[in-house]
Amino acid sequence: MSKLIGLLTSGGDTPGLNAAIRAIGKAALNKYNMEIIGFLDGFRGLMENRSINLNSRTLSGILTIGGTILGTSREKPNKMHVGGKIMDMTDVIVENYEKNHLDALVCLGGGGTQKNAFHLQKAGLNIVTLPKTIDNDIAQTDITFGFDTALGIATEAIDRLHSTAHSHHRIIVMETMGHRAGWLALGAGVAGGADVILIPEIPYDINIIAESILKRSRSGKKFSIVAIAEGAISKEMAHMLKPLFQKLKSTENKEEKAKLKEEISDLERLRSNNTLRLSRELEHLTGLESRVTILGHLQRGGTPSAGDRLLATRLGTAAVEYIDQNVYGVMIAAKGKESKPVPLDKVVGKRKIVSPHHPWIHSARLVETCLGD
Ligand code: F6P
Repeated sequence: MSKLIGLLTSGGDTPGLNAAIRAIGKAALNKYNMEIIGFLDGFRGLMENRSINLNSRTLSGILTIGGTILGTSREKPNKMHVGGKIMDMTDVIVENYEKNHLDALVCLGGGGTQKNAFHLQKAGLNIVTLPKTIDNDIAQTDITFGFDTALGIATEAIDRLHSTAHSHHRIIVMETMGHRAGWLALGAGVAGGADVILIPEIPYDINIIAESILKRSRSGKKFSIVAIAEGAISKEMAHMLKPLFQKLKSTENKEEKAKLKEEISDLERLRSNNTLRLSRELEHLTGLESRVTILGHLQRGGTPSAGDRLLATRLGTAAVEYIDQNVYGVMIAAKGKESKPVPLDKVVGKRKIVSPHHPWIHSARLVETCLGD
């Protein structure tokens, strides 16, 4: 008997999601004679049993479109907002999976989605996931779809900021997304020739940054571009956060855990507006005028790059091949030229961050980019 697959997109939207939906749908329908339905708005739609039939009509013309035709949300199966409360709706989701006679559920998402999907795998569902996020921070895959598009947008932004920074003899501080990983700021910074690149993995010293900008100024370059990741932190902040995270990892005591989490989020609140603060401090330390550009959701919007369309199509079609072979509990990862299934327990709870020895870091230092350390 042919299989019936459920599909959902969860977490922040990402360019390439529709390309992946199309790839999964077309391969399932055409090659394997499977049926496929798409649940709306992530795990919330699965809990509420809201779905659409994915057929040649709904799958047509979506390859180049940004966002996700299915809608998305950050709702978690075990912590869902229901009637003003947060409730564990895992049982309802399992019931709906069974009610729909699904043979497998494909979840397209980032780190949070991998965790939620693993939770459902443990609850008895047949799960296959794909790695999507502009942050590129999912473990066990070389790359995630969405990253290449966002990288292109951030690089183009740096290109454009150059001429205005140059004309006004200003510092321009440009903030990228990326959550706690520096891939976007680093990639765009190197590709766009930013003078300073600040990422969470390398805590910065503001005086070192100011000195590098002044050095440029003394050599006649009166402008500087600073590419900063939204999660970048100063050395002082890193010093305060590190012991808290270490304690959090080592304690099993619920009360202590809650207290530590509160302390961490108090410190994290101080981090908000970090980019604006950094810009003001640089003005003060260098005597140069500074402006801030926060790219925000521009990085997630619009048509996916060719690279993301290719990656999403490759991983999406591979997912269907593995479902045909009854391979479940896995994320389909990009490994070199291959698309390989990786058990979800090897993905969940880990994050792929930038190594200080990454070739992009090495090259950035060689072209005299200041990394703030
Ligand atoms: O994980 C993707 C991401 O775009 C992060 O880079 C960013 O921190 C976050 O999502 C923003 O989330 P939201 O769109 O929910 O504000």
